[in-house]
Amino acid sequence: MKMIASILLRGFTSARGLVASNYSSCVGTKAVSAECSSREIPIARDYFYVGGQYVYESAYSSSIYSDQIYVEKLSPPQGASQSSPLLFVNAGVPSGAAWLNTPDGRQGWASYFVEQGYLVYIVDITSVGRSSQDEKAIYPMKIASTVEITENDYTAPELIVPYPQAVNHTQWPGNGTKGDPYFDAFMAAMIPLTSNSTAQELSMKLAGCTLLSMIGEPTYIVSHSAGATYPLLMSDRCPDLIKGSINLEPGNTPFQNLVGNSTVSAVGRSSARACGLSATLLGYDPPITNCSQLETIVIGSDTPGNRSCYMQTSPARQLPNIAKVPYVALTGAASPHITYDHCTIDYLNQAGVATDWIKLGDIGIEGNGHFLYLEKNSLEIAAVVDRWIREH
Ligand SMILES: *[C@@H]1O[C@H](CO)[C@@H](O)[C@H](O)[C@H]1NC(C)=O
Ligand SMILES: *[C@@H]1O[C@H](CO)[C@@H](O)[C@H](O)[C@H]1NC(C)=O
Ligand SMILES: *[C@@H]1O[C@H](CO)[C@@H](O)[C@H](O)[C@H]1NC(C)=O
Ligand SMILES: *[C@@H]1O[C@H](CO)[C@@H](O)[C@H](O)[C@H]1NC(C)=O
Ligand SMILES: *[C@@H]1O[C@H](CO)[C@@H](O)[C@H](O)[C@H]1NC(C)=O
Ligand SMILES: *[C@@H]1O[C@H](CO)[C@@H](O)[C@H](O)[C@H]1NC(C)=O
Ligand SMILES: *[C@@H]1O[C@H](CO)[C@@H](O)[C@H](O)[C@H]1NC(C)=O
Repeated sequence: MKMIASILLRGFTSARGLVASNYSSCVGTKAVSAECSSREIPIARDYFYVGGQYVYESAYSSSIYSDQIYVEKLSPPQGASQSSPLLFVNAGVPSGAAWLNTPDGRQGWASYFVEQGYLVYIVDITSVGRSSQDEKAIYPMKIASTVEITENDYTAPELIVPYPQAVNHTQWPGNGTKGDPYFDAFMAAMIPLTSNSTAQELSMKLAGCTLLSMIGEPTYIVSHSAGATYPLLMSDRCPDLIKGSINLEPGNTPFQNLVGNSTVSAVGRSSARACGLSATLLGYDPPITNCSQLETIVIGSDTPGNRSCYMQTSPARQLPNIAKVPYVALTGAASPHITYDHCTIDYLNQAGVATDWIKLGDIGIEGNGHFLYLEKNSLEIAAVVDRWIREH
């Protein structure tokens, strides 16, 4: 609380050092003006490209460098006081930049954790932002999000109530629709990504474990949404390099993307992640060589407020490497994920992975949607994550 207050009190100061009385002139992307000075804390910054390889492109009779990730290292100016670094992994629709500041110009999670004494690494996942991916020349990029998806699923679900819990969504800054300067700043950060998730998963698994081994200290990974696929792939490949896996509203659901609130499966669902939690093979025990060897069963009744889930048939194959890494998921009380994150938790548990699941509503944190790390109470939620880290 004390820290939040000090940030707000600092206010916007103009380039001449005067406190600007007209806050609306520094709202959203308008803060780019030279008149609006930064509210950021002092941070030491370095950047690197990690992973990837040369790939021969016959069309050019030459090679390109591909599948590397952009890594930003943010350090407390006086050095880290926490022994374990944090690695932030974005979902891919905003790039890793989303961890830096919020669309309404407040402190982001990256600098919050630097302020708590952590060494922070932020990546852009392969194919997104400043990171690369070999697209085999013909594979098209796909859009990140439309205005409708962003408004209805992320920033203003309360306006159309696509699932019952949406009525309680109150934490997005601004009105959450097109034309609002915070919404516009958020939409402007949505950039295209690859439509080949197979290539993306394979390159992220390799580059991610390369990065972790170069960091050299067991690291906590903090991911959001679809970005939660990558800590699982890394846990599967290099579990000893990961101190804990912290997942904000992970994935969509095992084997399925749920869309809107239709419980008619042809309308409200589509197949995704053939290997359950990923499109590519995980180290299941007994092993599989093709995702189609996983046998599934639908559990639970499907209602808009609590969706049914795909699980494995019994006896379920286990995920022994992923089980080595402490895992926690956090879910907002008014997010679409509150209707289906139990599917991911139940799937992990069935595969022998112990989990913590923090439903924010259960600990008195109300009103959050899917982008909870950017919402008005984002630092209150960051403190929940900090506490979990210190206890593990
Ligand atoms: C504040 O800034 C906005 C945007 O630049 C401008 O439209 C408005 O007139 C300003 N208000 C005052 C009182 O200066
Ligand atoms: C499903 O979502 C639509 C908006 O997309 C809403 O009008 C409708 O009431 C919702 N149905 C249920 C059962 O929640
Ligand atoms: C909205 O939040 C209140 C307070 O937590 C809760 O009692 C209520 O069940 C919620 N409504 C829905 C539809 O989830
Ligand atoms: C949100 O604010 C913008 C800008 O003032 C306005 O254009 C838009 O109509 C508002 N949306 C709603 C749902 O009130
Ligand atoms: C997608 O990526 C995989 C892995 O790199 C590759 O084998 C496959 O050919 C790619 N698909 C297309 C359509 O390019
Ligand atoms: C995996 O199995 C499916 C269904 O049997 C088949 O269509 C597909 O070709 C197989 N994939 C590989 C890589 O063998
Ligand atoms: C939602 O459904 C699952 C089964 O899919 C069940 O275990 C869980 O208790 C249900 N949650 C609520 C809040 O009803």
